[in-house]
Amino acid sequence: MYDFRPKVQVTIPQTGESYPCAIGESLLMGMLKLGRKGIPAGCVNGGCGVCRIRILEGKINQLGPISRAHVSAAEEAQGYTLACRVGATQNVRLEVAGKMARTFTKGFVGPA
Ligand code: FES
Repeated sequence: MYDFRPKVQVTIPQTGESYPCAIGESLLMGMLKLGRKGIPAGCVNGGCGVCRIRILEGKINQLGPISRAHVSAAEEAQGYTLACRVGATQNVRLEVAGKMARTFTKGFVGPA
């Protein structure tokens, strides 16, 4: 079913991928629609920290609490956050920065 919500574009320079993310949708849910291996999805509720990202450019909005066990206040000030807990309100560039960053980029050969 088509999602009619307005969307922003999310770009990941690490792999050159980009995907549309609906306003109100988490950056992780949009990323999952890339439909490939290595997407850093775990608990999807801010508890495991596997979806840690760094916002390089653009504006995000918080959709739920972000555990300080996974992102300190100092790290948050540097752009780090959890992709399952934030959405975007304008186009965003991000990098995958958690435990799965290597898995995310390893073996990636680019969009078909
Ligand atoms: S998927 Fe577990 S914190 Fe985001």
